[in-house]
Amino acid sequence: MWGGRFTQKLDPAAWALNTSLAVDRRMGMQDVQGSLAWAAALHQAGVLSEDEAAQIASGLQAIQAEFTAQSFTFSPDDEDIHSAVERRLFELCGQLAGKLHTGRSRNDQVATDFRLWMLQTLPDIENALLQLQNTLVFQAEQSQVTIMPGYTHLQRAQPILLSHWWLAHFWPLQRDRERLAQLAQRAAVLPLGCGALAGTPLPVDRQALAKALAFQTAAPNSIDAVSDRDFAAEFLFFAALCGVHLSKLSEAIVLFCSAEFGFFELSDAFSTGSSLMPQKKNPDIFELGRGKAGAFTGRLVSLLTTLKGLPSTYDKDLQEDKEPVFASADTLLALLPALAGAIQTITAHPERMLSAIDAGMMATDLADYLVRKGVPFRETHALAGKAVHAAYEQGLGLDGLPLAVYRSIHPAFEEDVYQVFDAWESVKRRTALGGTAPAAVQVQLAQAKESVQRKLLF
Ligand code: ARG
Repeated sequence: MWGGRFTQKLDPAAWALNTSLAVDRRMGMQDVQGSLAWAAALHQAGVLSEDEAAQIASGLQAIQAEFTAQSFTFSPDDEDIHSAVERRLFELCGQLAGKLHTGRSRNDQVATDFRLWMLQTLPDIENALLQLQNTLVFQAEQSQVTIMPGYTHLQRAQPILLSHWWLAHFWPLQRDRERLAQLAQRAAVLPLGCGALAGTPLPVDRQALAKALAFQTAAPNSIDAVSDRDFAAEFLFFAALCGVHLSKLSEAIVLFCSAEFGFFELSDAFSTGSSLMPQKKNPDIFELGRGKAGAFTGRLVSLLTTLKGLPSTYDKDLQEDKEPVFASADTLLALLPALAGAIQTITAHPERMLSAIDAGMMATDLADYLVRKGVPFRETHALAGKAVHAAYEQGLGLDGLPLAVYRSIHPAFEEDVYQVFDAWESVKRRTALGGTAPAAVQVQLAQAKESVQRKLLF
């Protein structure tokens, strides 16, 4: 590719380090798509005659067919996917192939291929996210009359609907999907036609080129265009945050599957056994859902660290951009369907959840009860606290504490105080938008269902 200036071949150790084919070979289709559009632009710019453009296009189409049939053979001398495609084009079209690279550099070429690859891959990721969102909706729909203990600090806090809990893990994924659609807008900016860094002297219509490749617009600055990897960093951030969401959900499920909780049971198809302990049923899928979060985060940090010290335009460091992006995309596409299947087949044990709710979890309701009796809110928290303390001292539940004790704490307590300890009543009272009352959850569920009707990627 650059023989003229050199008298020696690249040293094998340098070659081995320099080559990126093992990573970027998956962009073969995108490389050909970019080249087809570029050949058409060269024809319009008067660089290629009609006949030459047609010959190059048919050569590129033959390469495309080889990629589709997986019959494209790489040569040991191919440095990266761009040089591999060009080498093959020479084999198919002879010296004419040498005209394709007019006015183009691998710098604008690689950035174009990478963005194209991303734009073509994001819909698969959105679909996988949607699939998982749908299973959460499915579980939420099944559990509208199941109550469970809600936790803060992993301490029993207030009763909630299981349906509400499932949906709490739905909305983070909806935000992830929104982020995906937003970063796609910024990925759809075309670098092609920017040359190595300074632009191309050929009269190419870059906006037409952008349209031809299904980009939204052409990059406005050639120097920025060949160095901008924001879309890759944004994708890695999206994956890292999505990974955190999946990890939090997974951790909760692992916990709820333990005998200590016993809230959930996994289907056999999504659990694993132990090679030593015959009784074990392990939640490996969710442990992986938790464990993958580390690498997702690491890949974001790795790219940001690569980018931070770069002078503008293209530096070879940028070749390090694809590996983390491909790895995070592959991991998401493996993880999301497995989690979706595992969640879809979870069996909940409502009786276990109910038995984990004690009257102490209605202490807030006790304070609210006094508010309804006209006691100022500032006092009611302390009064309910006194009742909790008295019950604890006497080894009783709040629901077992005699009325006389309640009345000694505050005369506003009456016989009806014991109704407060009905967990269902507690749940039903939280009717405001976003609350856990069945009526509010129904509204939320409808909203969630509407959200999954709409794909957000353009
Ligand atoms: N394989 C290279 C990469 O992925 C392609 C661009 C090479 N450009 C260059 N000026 N050496 O970044």
